[in-house]
Amino acid sequence: MPVLTTQVKTNKSVHREDNKTQQQVSNTTVKVQLQSVSKTYTNGTHALLDANLEVKKGEFLFITGPSGSGKSTLLKLLYGQELATQGEVIVDGCNVAGLRGDRLSLLRRRIGIVFQDYKLITQRTVAENVTFVLQAQGYTRKEIQRRLEPTLKLVGLLSKADCFPDQLSGGEQQRVSIARAIVGTPPLLLADEPTGNLDPDNSWQVIQILQKLNSFGATVIVTTHDEQLLRRCNHPVVQVRNGQLSRK
Ligand SMILES: Nc1ncnc2c1ncn2[C@@H]1O[C@H](COP(=O)(O)OP(=O)(O)OP(=O)(O)O)[C@@H](O)[C@H]1O
Ligand SMILES: [Mg+2]
Repeated sequence: MPVLTTQVKTNKSVHREDNKTQQQVSNTTVKVQLQSVSKTYTNGTHALLDANLEVKKGEFLFITGPSGSGKSTLLKLLYGQELATQGEVIVDGCNVAGLRGDRLSLLRRRIGIVFQDYKLITQRTVAENVTFVLQAQGYTRKEIQRRLEPTLKLVGLLSKADCFPDQLSGGEQQRVSIARAIVGTPPLLLADEPTGNLDPDNSWQVIQILQKLNSFGATVIVTTHDEQLLRRCNHPVVQVRNGQLSRK
């Protein structure tokens, strides 16, 4: 399986590799649908109300809205961490609520997730955090090594490969979580405020990495509060307000 490499490299082998990546990802692109979805948490909080959304294969979509409006909940429904109270969540042709065990694991293998709270394993190094998922998925040591270095380079953390998360700044930890999400070049990437802790330069670099994955055919959904980023990117934007969605 191919590796996502940096935009700035220009040698021919990298371009060949990128073309392979393009084929690989676009052959397996993913569509996402929410049909009349509501989510009420057990304490009675209504996080989403009759939400409808269709994200086409290969689309890059931003989701924005005030704190507490339901953005993370929406993403959690897509990867099955939370279940809808009403309506259907369909990812890659599967009704997420109907998936259990192996079938849910198989879907999640196709989804790269950048968690808002990073979810790094504190006892593991940066390199181990990034490769952990690949190991669990049965990638060979050779393939894991082939992917690790370019991915760490891409997020500017090659020199920190042997550090533990508590030896990193917040922004560096965030970039580890981004590296972990993209290292397997997933056909669907869900990123929950992936630039929330980054300065403008690093934010822009991260968005460019996500755009590159998208240019290879991956469907990308990113939540953000960053109005400047939204204006700069010109991708479609969905606004969440009090659990209700509207196209901006
Ligand atoms: N596990 C939970 N149990 C109960 N209520 C929850 C739970 N998770 C989220 N909520 C509530 O659901 C609503 C939506 O939360 P959510 O995390 O989706 O918002 P958000 O738009 O991602 O906010 P932020 O921008 O601060 O990350 C909020 O009112 C929140 O308090
Ligand atoms: Mg959130």
